[in-house]
Amino acid sequence: MSHTWSAKDHKNTSQPTATGPQKRARNDAGNKVTVVLGAQWGDEGKGKVVDLLAVEADVVCRCQGGNNAGHTVVVDGKEYDFHLLPSGIINPKSTSLIGNGVVIHLPGLFEEGDKNDKKGLKGWDKRLIVSDRAHLVFDFHQVVDGLQESERQAQEGKNIGTTKKGIGPAYSSKASRTGLRVCDLLGDFKDFSMRFKNLVRQYQSMYPSLEVDTEDQLKQLKEYGERLRPMVRDGVYYMYEALHGHPKKILVEGANAALLDIDFGTYPFVTSSNCTVGGACTGLGIPPLNIGDVYGVAKAYTTRVGIGAFPTEQLNADGELLQTRGREVGVTTGRKRRCGWLDLVIVRYAHMINGFTAIALTKLDILDVLDEIKVGVAYKLNGKRIPHFPANMDVLHKVEVEYETFPGWKTDTSAARKWNDLPPKAQNYIRFIENHIGVPIKWVGVGKSRECMIQMF
Ligand code: GDP
Ligand code: IMO
Ligand code: MG
Repeated sequence: MSHTWSAKDHKNTSQPTATGPQKRARNDAGNKVTVVLGAQWGDEGKGKVVDLLAVEADVVCRCQGGNNAGHTVVVDGKEYDFHLLPSGIINPKSTSLIGNGVVIHLPGLFEEGDKNDKKGLKGWDKRLIVSDRAHLVFDFHQVVDGLQESERQAQEGKNIGTTKKGIGPAYSSKASRTGLRVCDLLGDFKDFSMRFKNLVRQYQSMYPSLEVDTEDQLKQLKEYGERLRPMVRDGVYYMYEALHGHPKKILVEGANAALLDIDFGTYPFVTSSNCTVGGACTGLGIPPLNIGDVYGVAKAYTTRVGIGAFPTEQLNADGELLQTRGREVGVTTGRKRRCGWLDLVIVRYAHMINGFTAIALTKLDILDVLDEIKVGVAYKLNGKRIPHFPANMDVLHKVEVEYETFPGWKTDTSAARKWNDLPPKAQNYIRFIENHIGVPIKWVGVGKSRECMIQMF
C-alpha cells in the first residue's frame, strides 16, 4: 500500500511525545477536509461558497443527495448550474469526486456534463471520479417518486413537494438492501440484470400502474456504464490516499441542508440523506478526525422550496419582495421559493449539529431596499420561550416567533468589497447575527459572482 507521509507527520511518528499514543494518532491523521454545509432549507448559496474555495482545492467532493440539488455558480459572467457534479468541476486543476453516499441518476449525470461541455466546461469527465459504492437512481425511481407524491396528496391532502428526481425511492432501495450500485453495474451484467428485474418487480407489486421497459432500460444502462467506467474508483481508497499523501486541499460540498436532513430536519418534509456533518464521513468513508473547518452557509433571510413548517415565512409584501429581488426560483424544479425573515433559531440548531467553525452569510444585497428588517431570535410556545428546536411538526406550526427589528440601510451594497464598504446599519445586522449564533461570519455575499464575497478574516 503506498502511503506517503508528509514531513509533519514523519516528525510526529518518529518522535513519540509525552502526550502518549492518542495524541500521536491525532497528529498522524493526515490532511483535513473542509466541509461546506447548508444551514437552512437549502439554496443558501453553497455552490458559490464552494466555487470560491475550490479555486485552491485539489479535490472537491459530493457526499450525499443526488440531482435534487441545484447549485448556481457565476464565473466571468457565465452562469453554471450543477446538480450532481461538484461545483469544483469548474476548476481545471482540481479533481471532483462523487462519493458513496450520493445517489446517481446516470442519464442526469451525462446530460448535465454534456450541457456544461457545450457551455465551455471542457474535460469535466477527465476530472471526475465516481465511487464504486454509490447507489444508482433508475428512471423508475423517478416515476415512483411522482406516484408517491400523488398518493400522499390523495391520502393526506398534501405531498412533500419533492423534486421528483427519485431521491426518496433510491435511498429506500439502498436501505432495503435491494438497491444497485455502480460496482454492480460494472460487474457481472447478467447478475446486474437479474437484480434490476427483481427490483422492478418489487416496485410493480407496490405500484401496479408502473410500466418499465426493462430490456430498453438495461440496454441504456449498459451504455451509460461503459461511459462511466473510466471514472470509477474505490472511493474509500481514493480518499485514504488523498488524506495521507502529500498535503492536499480537500473540500466537501454539502447538498440540500440541515433542515432537510433525514434525521434532524423538519421530518417528514425533508430529503432522504444526511445533509449535516456526519454525512461527510459516511458519504465518503473518511474518519471524523479528518474533518477540519465546517462552514455553514446561510442566507441573510430564509427560503424554503416545497411543503412544511416555516415559522418566519412572510406571506405578504415583504415575502414577495424577497422572492422577486432575490430571484428565488428553484434551480432544479423552477418552483418559486417561499420567503421569510432570517430565522436564527434554525441556524443555531444547524450549528448545534454541525459545529460550524465559521459562517458564510449570503445575499445581504437583497435586503438593501428594506425600511425595516426582522430577525427571528426565539420560539415561544404558550407564551414561554423554548430552548430547543421542536421535533414535532404540529408543535413547529404552533410556535410564535420572537423578532428583533433592525432599521434598513437603504443603500446599494452590491459594490462593497470589504467590511468598511458596508453601511454601519448593515454592519450592525451582521454583528448581531454573529453574536446570536456564536459563530464568526467569515464571508458576506453581496452579489452572484465570485468577487461579490466580502472576506472578513
Ligand atoms: P445552493 O443550492 O446552496 O448552491 O444555492 P442556489 O444556487 O440554489 O441558490 C442561491 C442563488 O443565489 C443562486 O442563484 C446564486 O447565484 C445566488 N447568490 C448566491 N450568493 C448571492 C449573493 O450574495 N447575492 C445575490 N444577489 N445572489 C447570490
Ligand atoms: P440544494 O442543494 C432546496 C427539498 C424539496 C422537497 C424536499 C424533498 O440546491 O440546496 P427530494 O426531491 O429531495 O426528495 O425533496 O427537499 N429539497 C431542496 N430544497 N434546495 C435543495 O438542494 C433541495 N433538495 C431537496 O424541495 O421539499
Ligand atoms: Mg440550490
